[in-house]
Amino acid sequence: MVWHAIGRQLRHPRGWSGRLIGHVMRLVNDRPNRLAVSALDVQPGQHVLELGCGPGAAIARMAARGALVTGLDQSEAMLRQAARRNRRHMAAGRVALHHGYCRRLPLEDGAVDRVLAVNVAYFWDDPAEVLAEIRRVLAEDGLLVIYVTAADSMRGWKFAGADTHRLYDEAALTSLLTAGGFVSAGVERVTAGPGVTGLVARCRKASARKET
Ligand SMILES: C[S@@+](CC[C@H](N)C(=O)[O-])C[C@H]1O[C@@H](n2cnc3c(N)ncnc32)[C@H](O)[C@@H]1O
Repeated sequence: MVWHAIGRQLRHPRGWSGRLIGHVMRLVNDRPNRLAVSALDVQPGQHVLELGCGPGAAIARMAARGALVTGLDQSEAMLRQAARRNRRHMAAGRVALHHGYCRRLPLEDGAVDRVLAVNVAYFWDDPAEVLAEIRRVLAEDGLLVIYVTAADSMRGWKFAGADTHRLYDEAALTSLLTAGGFVSAGVERVTAGPGVTGLVARCRKASARKET
């Protein structure tokens, strides 16, 4: 029961326990966020979209590199934490936050150079729809980086049950991306924490010619 409640809060943080989860996520997800941001290779002036931005730690890191960052999350509690963490970047016009869902992105076609999704793909009930939206908003030569903790690490975690989390190994992540119209440049196994393996997938849109 308690584990299930934690799983639901990770999926959609709400109320005081959601706020607490946000602070915990900022700490325990620090290394995955660093690894994923590094794989995204953000350049100054690029427009980056972060899906499921949570408490906004990766946003702060990317804005500090000179990127223009749009953060999206379905949790108002997380958006408040992200706004506090990024208030100076927001005041400078370098960060914008949106309340919304990954399956419907509030951006024009081809509007972003990079898309980052850390610890959020577990919660996509409709991954094909989400990937179609990412393809729509990503520039032709844009880059998508997804981080998930590997299924073999997560299987032992009681809060990550099938009712709240969809787990991925390398093959499942690669086939998800391929089916979604992306070409994976490889899924790298990384050490996300003590005894915890993560997967960092870096991919680009499959070419229009290949789709026909
Ligand atoms: C486990 S947290 C990860 C937060 C952050 N990326 C990190 O790694 O610390 C997942 C976040 O994704 C958000 N989320 C889950 N499913 C979503 C969806 N379909 N659309 C938008 N946000 C979603 C949740 O509200 C939550 O803030």
